[in-house]
Amino acid sequence: MLRIRASGDVPRHVAVIMDGNGRWAQARGLPRTLGHRNGVEAVREAVAGCLDAGVRILTLYAFSTDNWDRPKAEVAALMSVLQIYADKESRALARKGVEVRVLGETDRLDAISRAAVDRIQKTTLGGEALRLNLMISYGGREEIVGAARILAKRASAGALDHREIDAELFASALLTRDLPDPDLLIRTSGEQRISNFMLWQVAYTEMHVVAEYWPDFTREHLFGAILDYQRRERRFGRVPTA
Ligand code: IPE
Ligand code: IPE
Ligand code: MG
Repeated sequence: MLRIRASGDVPRHVAVIMDGNGRWAQARGLPRTLGHRNGVEAVREAVAGCLDAGVRILTLYAFSTDNWDRPKAEVAALMSVLQIYADKESRALARKGVEVRVLGETDRLDAISRAAVDRIQKTTLGGEALRLNLMISYGGREEIVGAARILAKRASAGALDHREIDAELFASALLTRDLPDPDLLIRTSGEQRISNFMLWQVAYTEMHVVAEYWPDFTREHLFGAILDYQRRERRFGRVPTA
């Protein structure tokens, strides 16, 4: 933490592709679903680490639109992890000033999971220390298509001239309309791909890959990623600053 404070700006928005739950379990001879259950402790670590370091927004990729194609039992196990998390953590999160939002195609969730989403969002509403976005039933392409649809509908209703569409207006039709783009993207389990995550928003995000599986992720991994980020030179397509 001292090194982070001495090393300059902390990323305002950190996004994480939480990957490797299944392999974590398989390596221990356990069913994949136990990997998902054990991932919750790593979520606690990530939230605590962001609060410590002064990160303002944490976005966690918890369930993708493509994850719906996994075996039914695994989807059910992931949904039950969400329900348990909402039950067990909502009040503690609210106490710490963490405001939770769930972003994604939540109309595809079953009624019990949707109720869990409502509960955790309502209980934590107004938290000012950290905004925690849980990306559930989320896909980057789907989000972009959704934005295109919103704008097309406005245009065909005569409420929008197509010449007004620019990157800023487009971003205002995305699920992340009230958020700055992620500064830092972390992916666990050594995988170096985006897997349909925030395709629009990561245009200039710094990436950091952690070798460990998600259930083994600790706040030290987060701090390591932040220190790595602080050594980067962000250019946004321009020439280096003199
Ligand atoms: C991440 O772990 C959790 C989700 C994608 C829902 P995985 O379930 O993808 O675990 P691996 O990558 O198969 O090990
Ligand atoms: C990305 O991981 C989705 C989440 C972490 C929720 P996946 O495990 O689903 O992605 P691939 O299959 O490795 O690309
Ligand atoms: Mg995976």
